[in-house]
Amino acid sequence: MSKRELLDAIVTEVIVCRKCELWKTRKNPVPGEGSPHSQIMFIGEAPGYWEDVKGKPFVGAAGKFLDTLLSEAGLSRENVFIGNILKCRPPKNREPSRDEIERCTPYLNRQIRVIQPEIIVTLGNYSTAYVFSKVALPFNGITRVHGKFYKASILDMQVTIFPTFHPAAALYHPKYKEQLITDFHTLQQELAQKRPI
Ligand code: URA
Ligand code: SF4
Repeated sequence: MSKRELLDAIVTEVIVCRKCELWKTRKNPVPGEGSPHSQIMFIGEAPGYWEDVKGKPFVGAAGKFLDTLLSEAGLSRENVFIGNILKCRPPKNREPSRDEIERCTPYLNRQIRVIQPEIIVTLGNYSTAYVFSKVALPFNGITRVHGKFYKASILDMQVTIFPTFHPAAALYHPKYKEQLITDFHTLQQELAQKRPI
């Protein structure tokens, strides 16, 4: 099967998934989307209001800001993959529970295995905590670990992890907005080194 077919098979399963209670309150699952051949994967937390309505990741206010950050790093939605820790919206955007994360992340792990990204960008505390736990890196909060590259082995693959803030945090805290912009600039420089024009 091609990478596209393998990703589509995950979508088909997520659509009918009832492994945690969130299927009861979701309007649409948000499996994630983007290029199966992307060398870079962005991982957010969970769908919010608009993602739940549209079934697509990062389409609300935080998503608009993510689009800006992507384009400043020379990227676009078509050439990256964007996924989340949870595929269904927690009611009232409450935080994901430990149990929900445990039940849902096998889908994310499969997406990582199919795509085999060189760089995984984790957006915010939850996604960074999850990915760091997979590679046995100590996580002591996004403000301490953001903006740096961590080489690690995840699911038997060599990857570089780049944690940064969640774009939603930037909408409420100007300080985080500046740091996100700086971090995406760092990311862009790293990508430019890998793919000299
Ligand atoms: N926040 C997230 O973490 N993911 C989305 O898809 C949208 C908002
Ligand atoms: Fe299944 Fe994940 Fe949705 Fe829970 S959040 S129902 S585990 S797809």
